[in-house]
This record gives sequence, structure tokens and C-alpha cells, in this order.
Amino acid sequence: MKEIKYNELSKELLDQLQKGAFLNVKDNDGNVNTMTIAWGNLGFMWNKPVFTAMVRYSRHTYKLIENAKDFSVSFPLKGQLKEALSICGTKSGRDIDKFKESNIHAVDSKNINSPIIEECDLHIECKIVYKQEMDPKCIIDSEIKEKKYSTDDYHVLYYGEIVGTYINE
Ligand SMILES: Cc1cc2nc3c(=O)[nH]c(=O)nc-3n(C[C@H](O)[C@H](O)[C@H](O)COP(=O)(O)O)c2cc1C
Repeated sequence: MKEIKYNELSKELLDQLQKGAFLNVKDNDGNVNTMTIAWGNLGFMWNKPVFTAMVRYSRHTYKLIENAKDFSVSFPLKGQLKEALSICGTKSGRDIDKFKESNIHAVDSKNINSPIIEECDLHIECKIVYKQEMDPKCIIDSEIKEKKYSTDDYHVLYYGEIVGTYINE
């Protein structure tokens, strides 16, 4: 694993994010889950590099991340793991062991409690420093409300200070 600057592969990271990445969480009781994400922000706030992940209330991941200090995001940059992204984006960790079903492996990260996915190439480790529940009153674009939140299953935004970024060589 080679350490890199948080934004060294930002184009590759953001291009892959739209196709799918794995959001990995281990909670304070040791429960582990992963889910596919395609939405998120990479940026700089509070003098820190930050990745913001968006998790809907209905996700099993929401239950875990609420009781966690950190999360990681693992990106498959070579077009691999399409089937795993599909399983982890449609099945819930409430019902199945997604690691077993998708044949992917959660291994220890370097600096945080949450693991990374061994079969991915790029990993970011994020310490949760702020979270924000979406406030329906603050949605300016009514099309977003109609198209994305018709059942009121809003996202909670988790702002993670990026404390490690590395690639598999
Ligand atoms: C390509 C793709 C991207 C997704 N992005 C997100 C996301 O950013 N936030 C979210 O809450 N759910 C997202 N989902 C849905 C979750 O991955 C899905 O509901 C998953 O089954 C939740 O798993 P869990 O219940 O184990 O947490 C996405 C699904 C796919 C297929």
C-alpha cells in the first residue's frame, strides 16, 4: 500500500464514485457492513481534507454509522467488482453477509476502526467530524424533493476528515 495525497487521484476517485464505491463501517460494538455509494463530496473544510458521504435513514449502514467514529471508502479503479457493487447496492446487511455473498474481504485499515475492501485499489479513511440531517425545508430545488425524496427517506450527511489515502500497488 502506498500513501498518497488525498487529492492526488481525485479525478479517478470522482469518476469511479459515480459508477460505485464501497462505504465501509465498523461500529463501536464491532459490527461491520459495506454498501455501495455513488454520491459524495471530496473537498476541503475547516483546514482539513474532507469526504462527505450521504446515507439514507432506511439503510442498515445508517444504524451502524450512527454508532461509529469513522468510515472508509474503497474504490475499484480497474473496472473490477461490478457484481459486488451491484449486490452491495441492492441487498441489505440486515439480511445477508454482503462480504460473503459478494466474495469481497474486509481487512484492517491503517488509521481507523473501520476496515477497507481488499480487492479495491484506492482507499480513503475518514474520521467523522460533523454530521447533518437533511432538512426538507432547506431543499430549494423542488424537483430534487419530488424525484429523490418522495417517501421522506432523507439522507444524513457524514463529514469525514480524511486521515489516510492509499493505493494498492
Ligand atoms: C450505484 C449505487 C449507488 C448508491 N448510492 C447510495 C448513496 O450514496 N447513499 C445511500 O444511502 N444509498 C445508496 N445506494 C443504495 C444502497 O447501496 C442500498 O440501499 C444498500 O442495499 C444499502 O445497504 P445496507 O442496508 O446494508 O446499508 C446506492 C446503490 C447503488 C446501486
